[in-house]
Amino acid sequence: MPNSSTSPTLGVGMVGYAFMGAAHSQGWRSVGRAFDLPLSPVMAAVCGRDQAKVDAAADRLGWSATETDWRALITRDDVQLVDICSPGDSHAEIAIAALEAGKHVLCEKPLANTVAEAEAMVAAAEAARERGQIAMVGFNYRRVPALALARELVARGRIGALRHVRAVYLQDWGADPELKLVWRLRKELAGSGALGDLGAHVVDLAQHLTGELITGVSAYTETFVKERPLPDGSGVGQVTVDDAALFTGRLASGALASFEVSRFATGRKNALRIELNGSDGSLAFDLERLNELEFYDNTQPATEGGFRRILVTEPDHPFLEGWWPPGHGLGYEHTFAHQARDLVHAIAAGTQPAPSFADGLQVQRVLAAIEESAEKNAVHTPVQAAE
Ligand SMILES: NC(=O)c1ccc[n+]([C@@H]2O[C@H](COP(=O)([O-])OP(=O)(O)OC[C@H]3O[C@@H](n4cnc5c(N)ncnc54)[C@H](O)[C@@H]3O)[C@@H](O)[C@H]2O)c1
Repeated sequence: MPNSSTSPTLGVGMVGYAFMGAAHSQGWRSVGRAFDLPLSPVMAAVCGRDQAKVDAAADRLGWSATETDWRALITRDDVQLVDICSPGDSHAEIAIAALEAGKHVLCEKPLANTVAEAEAMVAAAEAARERGQIAMVGFNYRRVPALALARELVARGRIGALRHVRAVYLQDWGADPELKLVWRLRKELAGSGALGDLGAHVVDLAQHLTGELITGVSAYTETFVKERPLPDGSGVGQVTVDDAALFTGRLASGALASFEVSRFATGRKNALRIELNGSDGSLAFDLERLNELEFYDNTQPATEGGFRRILVTEPDHPFLEGWWPPGHGLGYEHTFAHQARDLVHAIAAGTQPAPSFADGLQVQRVLAAIEESAEKNAVHTPVQAAE
């Protein structure tokens, strides 16, 4: 495997070290071993709020130094890229300050908790772009090889004129009513519930795979369990976000889209499924079988028709050149190495990688239209267009 240790370095400083922090760390640890890179990422420092816990995380995940205040992290001389893996309420403040401090920024999804915050982040990213800095939002599923292949097949016209997008993202960890009132269930920290958490991914994917924007939506949301035990054991508190969202949308071409996202789909652990139907064929993907893409070619004789399963592990498939021989599948974690690879290349070349903060803002506008529609009992609501 290539080793980019002779390349100039790119110091990374990461905020947050739990779920996404661990996933991003895995990406940073492996990317330079799997792919030839123009810059060699160095895991310079990780930031948490508790010294003992962040020290333990740094040891476990492979970071050289620790900080307990992100303001100190973003001014370190050995950090050129700030990687934000904290909850949504902190994204705008950290990203804007890091860009103003001259750093490149990778920010987890959803970009922000509100459209106004996302707009401020785009303004900061555009100003920073003039100074040669790069900002990217972490919609990692774009870089599942099977979904990258799906996008290529759509762009090559293999499914013809798009008619339908059908997407669900289903989990079940919310179904237990004794689950504590964690940050994901509090609007002031998470912005929204299943919508911003899971819905953001399927909205981004629907638009990314088809190359079309959602122009209007009609939505229902529901909070099934309205009170939950407080984490400190001092009683119960209100759940202030949605547990599930059901929405339909129109794409720019007139294609119709339907979406369902839930934390209450018992038995469904991480079931992101997306299907596209076009005049010449269909594509179907299930994250729980992420090395596979189903393709139906409607141009073939009906007698030989049927969905076929493409095993997306060939060296010529997207991102596969860095990994294993055909059939030796990849997993969830590899998407973070792919995201890191593309970001490092973009920083070295001075080009804007996708998804940009502007792409993240556009998803935020779709989420806002969904919330507005749901408040009006599913009244059709246009998505605010970019200026
Ligand atoms: N791309 C994906 O597939 C995906 C999956 C899960 C979560 N996410 C996103 O990643 C972000 C983090 O989610 P998570 O699941 O990792 O949450 P988490 O609760 O597992 O971790 C959050 C981390 O942020 C830290 N943190 C919180 N406030 C902080 C502050 N002010 N300063 C420093 N550290 C702080 C916490 O200590 C913790 O380490 C969210 O925006 C979430 O939507 C993305």
